[in-house]
Amino acid sequence: MERLHRNKISTEKIFILFALLLLAGAMLFGLLGALQYLIPGLLKSRLSFERVRPLHVSSVVFWIIMATMGTAISFLQEHTGKKLYSAQLLGIQLWIFILTIICILTSYCLGIFGGREYWEFPPLLSIPVVIGWILFLINFIKSAGSLKNQPVYVWMWLTGIVFFLFTYIESNLWVLPYFRNNVVNDMTIQWKSYGSMVGSWNMLIYGSSIFLMDKISNNKTYSHSSIAFALYFTGLFNLMFNWGHHIYTLPTQPYVKNISYLVSMTELVILGRIIYNWKHSVSAAKKLFHETAYRFLLAADLWIFLTLLLAIAMSVPAINVYTHGTHITVAHTMGATIGINSFLLLAMAFDILNEGCRSLEPYKKMLNRGILTANISLLIFWLSLIAAGIIKARWQMSGLQLPFSVMMQALRPWFIIFFLSGIALTTGFLLIIYPLVKNQLVCHLKWTIKRRKSSIRTKAALAME
Ligand code: HEM
Repeated sequence: MERLHRNKISTEKIFILFALLLLAGAMLFGLLGALQYLIPGLLKSRLSFERVRPLHVSSVVFWIIMATMGTAISFLQEHTGKKLYSAQLLGIQLWIFILTIICILTSYCLGIFGGREYWEFPPLLSIPVVIGWILFLINFIKSAGSLKNQPVYVWMWLTGIVFFLFTYIESNLWVLPYFRNNVVNDMTIQWKSYGSMVGSWNMLIYGSSIFLMDKISNNKTYSHSSIAFALYFTGLFNLMFNWGHHIYTLPTQPYVKNISYLVSMTELVILGRIIYNWKHSVSAAKKLFHETAYRFLLAADLWIFLTLLLAIAMSVPAINVYTHGTHITVAHTMGATIGINSFLLLAMAFDILNEGCRSLEPYKKMLNRGILTANISLLIFWLSLIAAGIIKARWQMSGLQLPFSVMMQALRPWFIIFFLSGIALTTGFLLIIYPLVKNQLVCHLKWTIKRRKSSIRTKAALAME
C-alpha cells in the first residue's frame, strides 16, 4: 500500500510539475523572441514580439511562483512532520492558479492586454491570483502552528507570503483613478511594488534553500544561526526599502536610490556566504547522496557572485546613466532569475520529485550534461547581452547621432550569439526537466492502473458474493 501510495502525484508535486512545464514553455517563447531580434517582423500578424515578450515573462514569473508555493508547502510538512491543515484548500488553490495562468497566456495569444509591464493581462484576472494566495496564507498559518522557537525558514516563508500578497495588491492600485491620476505617484508605487514583490518571492525561495541545506547536511545549525537570521532581517529590510533603484528615472533624491541599491546587494552577499560556508560542512557521503540538488546550489552560489559584480557596476550612478534601458538591465534580470532563482528552485524540485517509484539513477549522465550545458551557455548568453548593452549605451550617449538602424546592425553578431546560446541553455534545461517530469508521470500512470485493477477486483468479489 505504501509503495502504491508513493506512485500517486501529490498536489504539491503538481504545483512543481506545472511550474516545470511553464519553465519549458517560457524558454521556447524566449527563443522565439530572440529570433525576432534577428528577423524583425517575424510572425508579426499572429505572434509579434509584443505578444511573445509577455508570454515569455509571465511564464517565467509563474514558473517561479508555482514552484515556490509547491516547495514551501512540501517542506513545511516535512518540517512539522504533520499533514497540511487542509489538503482540499491546497487543491482549490492549485486549480485557481492553473486555470488563471491558462487564461492569462491565452489572452496574450489573442492579443488581449490591459495590464502593466510584467502583468500585462486584463486586471480582472488578478482577482483569482489574490484569492489563491489568500488560501495559501490560511493553509500555511494553520499548518505551521506556533511561531515560538521556529527556525529561520518558517519566518521567511511566512514573511514572504504576507508581503507578496500586500505588494501584489499594491501593484494593482493603478486601476483606481485616485492613484492613476498622478503620474509620478503612480509610477513610484508601481515600481516600488515590483521591487518589493521580488524581495517577497526571494524570501520564500531563500527560506526553502536554507531548509534544503539543513536537510542535506542533516544539521539544523544553520536555520537557527545568527547568520541565517541576519539574512532574514536583511531580506526584510530589502523588500521594504530596496526599491529605490527601480525608480532611477523618476525625480527623487539620488541618495535614496544609491542607498537602496547597496541594501539590495547585502542580501546577496549574505546568501552567498551562507551557501559558501555550508558547502564546507557537508560530508562527501552526503554530497554524493544529494548530488544533483547539491550541484544546483553550487551553481546558484556562482551566479550570486556574478550577479553581484554586475549589480555593483550598475549601481555606480555614472555607469547607471549608460546602462538604463539597455540589454545590460535584461542581463541583470535574466542572470538573477535564471542563475539564482531557477537554479535554487531546481535544487528543491529535485529533492521533492526524487522520491517516487522510479530512481533517477539511469538519467545521471543526462542530468550532469544538462547542468554543465545550462551553466556554460548561461555565461555566454549573459555576456552577449552585456556586450549588446554596452554598444547600445555608447550609441545612446554618442554625440554623433548615428541612425538607429546602424546601431542595430552593430548589435547583430551579439544577437546571433544570444540566440545560439539560448538554444544551448534551453537544451540544458530540458535535459534536466525531462527525467523529472517523465518519472512522475510514469509513476502516476502505474498508480492509476493498479487502483483501477484493484477496484475491478473488489467489484468482482462483491458480485461473486
Ligand atoms: C530560465 C529561463 C529564463 C528566465 C528565468 C528568463 C527571464 C527573463 C526575464 C525576467 C525577462 C524580463 C527582463 C527585463 O524586463 O528586464 C526576460 C526577457 C527576455 N528573455 Fe528571458 N528568461 C529565460 C530564458 C530565456 C531564453 C532561453 C531566451 C532565448 C534566447 C530568452 C530571451 C528573452 C528575450 C528575447 C527577452 C526580452 C528582452 C527585451 O525586452 O528586449 N530568455 N527573460
